[in-house]
Amino acid sequence: MTSHRDYTVSIHYDRRLYRQDIAGSTAHARMLARQKIISAQDAEQIVQGLEQVRQEIESEQFPWDAALEDLHMNIESRLHQIIGAAAGRLHTGRSRNDQVALDMRLYTREAIRDAVKGLRGVQEALVGLAERHAGVVMPGYTHLQRAQPVLAAHHFLAYFQMFQRDAERFHDCYRRADVLPLGSGALAGVPYPTDRVFLAQELGFSAITANSMDAVSDRDFLVEYQAAAALAMMHLSRLAEELVLWSSREFGFIRLADEYTTGSSIMPQKRNPDFAELARGKTGRVYGHLMGLLTVLKGLPLTYNRDLQEDKEGFFDTVDTLLATLGVFQGMLSGMTLDTERVMSLAGESAMLATDLADYLVGKGVPFRQAHGVMRELCRHCEAQGKELAGLTLEEYRRFSPHFDEGVYGITAQSSVAARDNPGGTAPQQVAQEVRRARQLLEAASNSHGF
Ligand code: ARG
Repeated sequence: MTSHRDYTVSIHYDRRLYRQDIAGSTAHARMLARQKIISAQDAEQIVQGLEQVRQEIESEQFPWDAALEDLHMNIESRLHQIIGAAAGRLHTGRSRNDQVALDMRLYTREAIRDAVKGLRGVQEALVGLAERHAGVVMPGYTHLQRAQPVLAAHHFLAYFQMFQRDAERFHDCYRRADVLPLGSGALAGVPYPTDRVFLAQELGFSAITANSMDAVSDRDFLVEYQAAAALAMMHLSRLAEELVLWSSREFGFIRLADEYTTGSSIMPQKRNPDFAELARGKTGRVYGHLMGLLTVLKGLPLTYNRDLQEDKEGFFDTVDTLLATLGVFQGMLSGMTLDTERVMSLAGESAMLATDLADYLVGKGVPFRQAHGVMRELCRHCEAQGKELAGLTLEEYRRFSPHFDEGVYGITAQSSVAARDNPGGTAPQQVAQEVRRARQLLEAASNSHGF
C-alpha cells in the first residue's frame, strides 16, 4: 500500500546527487568556519562525518529513509547520528533551495563534460570512416532519389559537422551552468557574513549568481542541456535512419558488426539493426523531457516552488539516454563495413551524371537553363529506349544538341566529384583537407579534455 505521503518523496531518484550534495556541504562547512560563523572543530567534525556518509553510500550501507523525503534530509539526519549536535550547524546560512540548485548545477557541469566526451568519440569514429574510405565514391541523395555522386568521406564528415555544433552548444550551456547559487538562502540571501567567492573557488565555479531570487528558481541551464541533447539525439536519429536503410538488402551499402544486430526469433536470415532503431526511438523520450521541463517552469511565480523537484527525473533520463546512445554509436560506426564495390558501382550509374553533362554543355557556351532542358530530353529518351546515358552513341547525343563531342565519354563519377573543387564541395582534395581539419580539431579537444 502506498501512503499519500509518498507523493512528495524524491529520494529514489535524487540520491544520485549524493556526491554533489556532499561536495557542496563540505565547502559550505569550511566557508562557515573560515568566516567564524561556526567553530573550526564543528566544521572538522562535519567534514569528517560527511566523508563517512559518502563511504556508507558508496558501500551501500547507507540507511536510506523515504520518510525523510529527499537526499538532503537523509544526509543531514545521518550526519546527526554520526557526529551529534555539531551536525545542526551545517545548515547555518543555507536553505535546501540554494542547496538543490547547487547540486543540479554541479551535476549538469559533469553531464556536459560527459556529453562532449561522448560526442568526441562519435566524431572520432566518423573521421576514422572518412580516412578508411578515401577515394570511395557513392551515390548522394536528395528526396531519397539518387542525385549526384559524392565521396563517402564527404557523407561521413557531414555528420562530423553536426556533432561539432552539438559539442559547441554544450560548451555554451556550460558557461551558464557554471555559476554558484549557494549563498542565496531560501530566496532573499542570508544574514551571515558568508564568503561566496571562496565557495565558488572551492567548488570550481567561474562566477557567483547576482540575484538570490533568480538563483533559487532558475532551471534554464537544465532546459539548455536538454535542448542541446534533443538536437544531438535528432542528429543521431538521422544517422540511425541511414544505417537502417543502408544495412537493408535493398541498399546493401553497409554491414553492421554482429554485436550491433540481432536475429529474429522466427526468420533465421535476419540481421536486424536494433541498436540504430532504438536510438531513433529513444529520441522521442529526450524531446519529451525537454517539453516536460519547459511546461513545469512556465507558470511558476518567483521563487522556489516545489514543482521544481519535477526537474530531475526527466533530466536524468535525458543524460542517461544521450550518453548511452553516444557510446553505442561510437562502437557501431567503428565496427561497420562499407561495401565499397557496391556503392562505387551505383555511383557510376550515368543517370547521376546528368547535371555534369549539362555543365559540360555550359562549358561549350550553352546557357545553363537551355543545357538543363537538353539533358531532360536526353534522360526521357534514355528512359523510353531503356538505355543508359553512357550507352548512347555520339550521333544520338547530337540529335539533342550539336555541342556534344567525344568529350562526353570522359564524364564519370570520378570526374564529377573532382569537378566540385571549391570549399565545402566533395572534390577529393577538398575532402582530404576537411579530414585533416577534423583530426586537428579532435586533437585540440583531447588536449583540453574535450573542451
Ligand atoms: N527535493 C527538493 C527539490 O528537489 C529540495 C528542495 C526542497 N525545498 C523546499 N523548500 N521544500 O526541489
